[in-house]
Amino acid sequence: MPIKKTIKPQNRAKKYNICVVGAGHVGLVAAACFAKLGHKVICADNDKGRIKSLKNNQLPFYEPDLDLLVKRVLKQGDLVFSTSLEEGIRKSEVIFIAVGTPPLADGSADLTAIGNVAHSIADNLNSYKLIVEKSTVPVQTGQKVKETIQRYKRNNNSFDVASNPEFLREGKAIYDFFYPDRIVIGVESQRAEKILKEIYASLEAPIIVTDINTAELIKHASNSFLATKISFINAVSRVCDLANADVEKVALAMGMDKRIGKDFLLAGIGYGGFCFPKDVEAFMHISKKLGYEFELLNQVRLINQSQRLYFVDKIKEHLWILKDKKIAILGLSFKPDTDDVRFSPAVDIIEAFIKEGTDLSLYAPQAKEEIKKIFKTSQKLKFAKDPYAAIKDADCLCLVTEWEEFKKLDLKKVKKLMHYPLIADGRNVFSKDKLIALGFNYIGMGK
Ligand code: UDX
Repeated sequence: MPIKKTIKPQNRAKKYNICVVGAGHVGLVAAACFAKLGHKVICADNDKGRIKSLKNNQLPFYEPDLDLLVKRVLKQGDLVFSTSLEEGIRKSEVIFIAVGTPPLADGSADLTAIGNVAHSIADNLNSYKLIVEKSTVPVQTGQKVKETIQRYKRNNNSFDVASNPEFLREGKAIYDFFYPDRIVIGVESQRAEKILKEIYASLEAPIIVTDINTAELIKHASNSFLATKISFINAVSRVCDLANADVEKVALAMGMDKRIGKDFLLAGIGYGGFCFPKDVEAFMHISKKLGYEFELLNQVRLINQSQRLYFVDKIKEHLWILKDKKIAILGLSFKPDTDDVRFSPAVDIIEAFIKEGTDLSLYAPQAKEEIKKIFKTSQKLKFAKDPYAAIKDADCLCLVTEWEEFKKLDLKKVKKLMHYPLIADGRNVFSKDKLIALGFNYIGMGK
């Protein structure tokens, strides 16, 4: 659905001066979309290089259509970028915190950046402000933000803290912002509830109003449940391999049960990206801190990790010796339509092949530069200019990320180009029967 045609700011809806702190994936998308809804937005980030690039419409990551949206709202004057958090806070009534909460070594979320923003808000509380957590944070973080502002503020100006978790998927972030399944707002006052409802007034989604702790927990529980669904079907796929059954049919039939639902039952090499792995860990950590060992999530994590190496093992079992064999890796990012390689299965898979002494030829529509930062080009690891160049003379085509481009490959051409016609389908996108009919050997995940 074309967003520009369907989303129009309602003229009667109240417009707010909003500061979004953090110009990362969450912050930048939120800032541009709030501006599109007609609010006046300052997007503040202390990374001077990033803000300079953004002012020149150069985005720090790939997200379909975000560049066009940013360009449009910048031109209209509804969005400005700033390196001054102080200015952003002082000029705004509503402050969305969208800074990073990366994982620490023990799996807990590093909340240093959130703490620093809370302190700056206390220093610059020149009028009433609503402070909204947008970053994914462990339950009870809002309480800490409130305490921090209360402790350090220098005047009697009042404020509210709220939680409004984002549920955006990378690659579909703008669509998800404008057409969410639900909007969750965790609030402690009617004033905060009214403001947040007015900010989202142009959207048609149901709004779930909760207390702050509940809203924070909804985010961790949602992502952990989705990760659980993926690990569950991946575990089933292992049994299917052993029993010579077809996981795709299992998932299809399971998904038709409305109580289960068909989404997130695609078996393969597992989930990656910055959200699921980090949020599962952080949820386990906070649960334990509160007194509950979320052992189920530990298994979810372990199953996910094992899928990647199981995939490599299957290829090894087929080809026997991997040293000096040529393997084409198609796809590098953790999923299509993004250049994000954080916790991408591709990274572990490439690493495992490097250990085996395999010759690798890599191709993906996005994320080449990101992968080059992790693995240096060498005689054993090369980047190809297109999928066919990667596949040429290969003993195995490894499908790691299911980009549309790969689903449309000319398979007859692929077969002619390969040294040995083996397709290892890490995302179960190809038809096994069709490939076998074409003369390929096929490795799927549970089929
Ligand atoms: C996720 C959540 O979906 C989103 O709501 C939250 O805000 C951030 O985390 P994202 O990380 O962008 O979004 O990716 P998503 O599209 O959900 O996919 C996550 C991973 O799961 C990908 O690696 C994908 O390949 C994998 N996946 C997904 C499967 O392996 N099988 C599936 O059936 C679905």
